[in-house]
Amino acid sequence: MTTEQMSTRTCLAVVLAAGEGTRMRSSRPKVLHEIGGRTLIGHVLSAVGAIGGRTAVVVGPGQYAVVAAAKALVPDAAFFVQQERHGTAHAVLAAKAALAPQDGDVADDVVVAFADTPLVTHETIMRLRGALVGGAAVAVLGFRPADPSGYGRLIVEGGGALVAIREDKDATAAERAIGLCNSGLMALAGGTALKILDQIRDDNAKREFYLTDAVAVARAMGLATVALETDEDEVLGVNTQAQLAEAEAVLQQRLRAAAHAAGVTMVAPETVHLSADTKLGRDVIIEPYVVFGPGVTVEDGAVIRSFSHIEGAHIGRGAKVGPYARLRPGADLEADVHVGNFVEVKAARLEAGAKANHLSYIGDARVGAGTNIGAGTITCNYDGFRKHLTDIGRDAFIGSNSALVAPVKIGDGAYVASGSVITSEVPPDTVAFGRAHQTNKEGMASRLRAVLKAGKKGA
Ligand code: UD1
Ligand code: MG
Repeated sequence: MTTEQMSTRTCLAVVLAAGEGTRMRSSRPKVLHEIGGRTLIGHVLSAVGAIGGRTAVVVGPGQYAVVAAAKALVPDAAFFVQQERHGTAHAVLAAKAALAPQDGDVADDVVVAFADTPLVTHETIMRLRGALVGGAAVAVLGFRPADPSGYGRLIVEGGGALVAIREDKDATAAERAIGLCNSGLMALAGGTALKILDQIRDDNAKREFYLTDAVAVARAMGLATVALETDEDEVLGVNTQAQLAEAEAVLQQRLRAAAHAAGVTMVAPETVHLSADTKLGRDVIIEPYVVFGPGVTVEDGAVIRSFSHIEGAHIGRGAKVGPYARLRPGADLEADVHVGNFVEVKAARLEAGAKANHLSYIGDARVGAGTNIGAGTITCNYDGFRKHLTDIGRDAFIGSNSALVAPVKIGDGAYVASGSVITSEVPPDTVAFGRAHQTNKEGMASRLRAVLKAGKKGA
């Protein structure tokens, strides 16, 4: 099945997120917990979004935060509330209006995914859809966990055909011995999906409408059903904080592997924390212990030294960052910029070749090309109420320990003396001594000590 052939088929993804997630012991809804800087439901929406088509999300009552988060990612998604939890098929049927014909047509393929199973890839979803193209009415993704207890088991006939899924609580001892389990990810042919779902009953141990019964119902209707397999890692479900950390670890492995494949050098990859959307160019070098929050792009040949924390930032070609640098959202470093130790940059553009090598805060600013920011320079961007801009031209020099009180402008080629407090504009090619004059009293140091010593004795 080529991508081109697939792209002519329409698809509806139904994402189930009505769970309560009580085992997370958290006030945050389970599917809004994050791995790789992205919510669990965000990962699932991104995987199903990559296949194109419509998206329906099923939430529980009152889960406004989940709706808001999903809407921000997929503005045209349809939302459905499952008022009471009566099982996974019941949850899918909460989105019945999305499954029903739209303008006379149903989607060719319906994909059901769990919002708490974040590592499923778009390629695997395409494999399941490929099985529908091959004539199956239901395609199920199976896996072989180290410990199958608790999962639904895939009952496969001699010839390899999937005949039913038996939930753990309803399974016989012989069925429990089956190692092939249901991941939860399922694809159904759009033409028969509703007919199948409507026939599912709740005559089982949990008195729930099981989506898994779609397989037996389809078989009884004379339709074909198939099981595909994947690795346990891909279908890891998150129910607890420990599983959240496990999923994070699997995701980090994937992200590091992708970075390696793209030509990134990581000295100690296991100590580098990436985000799902981190973009790293070729020949980027990342030293040990670097954290990438969401929204970071690093261009070719940049070097990120140890213990740097970076989020929402753009790092240009050949730039050098760290060690111990902090780049916050809106930090934009052009080519060959240097940002050294204990320098914090926020909402600021450092133009090509600019340098801030030591102990500075650069916030709400522009620093022109080739300008040097001396150690301890602070842009005083906040007056207690509002933020103001500092605009520094090209090839300027800001002496160490200067305070630039915004809003303020420093012209091209200007020179600010060390220790200055700059409160008004410095025109181009101007030297600004923004500090009190120094007065020297010769021979006074020893007299001063004598006075101080006498005072101490008297005390
Ligand atoms: C389900 C499968 C099982 C599979 C396992 C994989 C069924 C009947 N069983 O079992 O075969 O091995 O997942 O992890 O499908 N949900 C709702 N509304 C409901 C019930 C569930 O939205 O009324 C959502 C949950 O939020 C969750 C997903 O559906 O995202 C799965 O529900 P869960 O209760 O975890 O099903 P399992 O018992 O784990
Ligand atoms: Mg579960």
